[in-house]
Amino acid sequence: MSWLCCRQGRRRSPNHDKTLPALIKRPKAETIPFRHHRETPHTMQNSQIGFIGGGNMARSLVGGLLKNGWTAANLTISEPDDFNASLLRKLDPALKLTRDNRLVAENADVVLFAIKPQIFAEVVEPLRETLQRQRPLLISIAAGVTINSIDRWSGGGLPIVRCMPNTPALVESGATGLFANAAVDDGQRAIAESLLRAVGLAVWLDEESLIDTVTALSGSGPAYFFLLMEALQDAASAQGLPADTAKLLALQTAFGAAKLALESDTDFATLRQRVTSRGGTTEAALNVFEQQGLRDTVTAAVEAAANRSRELAELFAGDNHSESS
Ligand SMILES: NC(=O)c1ccc[n+]([C@@H]2O[C@H](COP(=O)([O-])OP(=O)(O)OC[C@H]3O[C@@H](n4cnc5c(N)ncnc54)[C@H](OP(=O)(O)O)[C@@H]3O)[C@@H](O)[C@H]2O)c1
Repeated sequence: MSWLCCRQGRRRSPNHDKTLPALIKRPKAETIPFRHHRETPHTMQNSQIGFIGGGNMARSLVGGLLKNGWTAANLTISEPDDFNASLLRKLDPALKLTRDNRLVAENADVVLFAIKPQIFAEVVEPLRETLQRQRPLLISIAAGVTINSIDRWSGGGLPIVRCMPNTPALVESGATGLFANAAVDDGQRAIAESLLRAVGLAVWLDEESLIDTVTALSGSGPAYFFLLMEALQDAASAQGLPADTAKLLALQTAFGAAKLALESDTDFATLRQRVTSRGGTTEAALNVFEQQGLRDTVTAAVEAAANRSRELAELFAGDNHSESS
């Protein structure tokens, strides 16, 4: 058994340590009322969780798990890159790190794949024999990789949960859609949900095809809000507001609106109407949004993203189909 122990590697980017001004309160996962911090059953925390891939997403998941009562002794991560391994070790020096994917598969009740979709087949296929012998729960967070593909590459019949998280998981404010195949039992569903809840909200889907919609909504969604904040900043700057001030106000407004909506049972339309006085400034702006077809634009954008998600899934499945079936 060879746990990684090197501490060296890539330099951080110059922006790595940039933080938001203290004035801006970052939304914490705890502010989301429907993310109940469930008591994690004792047996669950005794499960051995193995990560294949220890990059950004795995690091945030591991960080979230450690904060939610899981211990390093139950977490094994296979990561080939020294720099990523050193970042993981900073979370907890007792984490078991390795470069050997088979070692992870041999010792885990749950194997979580946090690798790029393009390399999924080439990583799973060599583990097929081990996985078939050990029969762990497989969890994938890889965008566009279907349960059918994972089932085929792993030899068939294993319990598999496919998830679509989003980038705010990196700051424990993620939103994840999950889908389980028929081989997943209730205990395994609870473990999968608990793992993803460590970095934010997790919701189950009844059909795998809805993962494409989740991808188009919350998976790609952070970029939509960044675009809107960018446009608001630019518009206010054009009217003479200093760019930094415009950025801060746009950010805090987005955060405040989300927090207000999260902490209320009221639907979006009613919340919007409450800040829209007849003949006032908000109404003047909203009229422009409506006249210029914002809703149609959003519908078309979300449709385009979902279509692209389906295309990518076909591409990832097709790439490896001949060698795997
Ligand atoms: N980031 C997000 O917000 C987000 C959102 C939704 C879904 N996802 C999905 O999450 C997955 C991981 O994303 P990420 O952002 O964490 O990517 P990442 O930072 O690139 O992490 C992937 C890690 O896997 C490692 N790796 C490469 N080959 C490996 C192998 N053969 N065995 C074990 N590990 C290997 C990579 O090492 P090297 O650097 O040496 O290649 C890298 O550290 C992707 O499939 C992505 O689609 C991510």
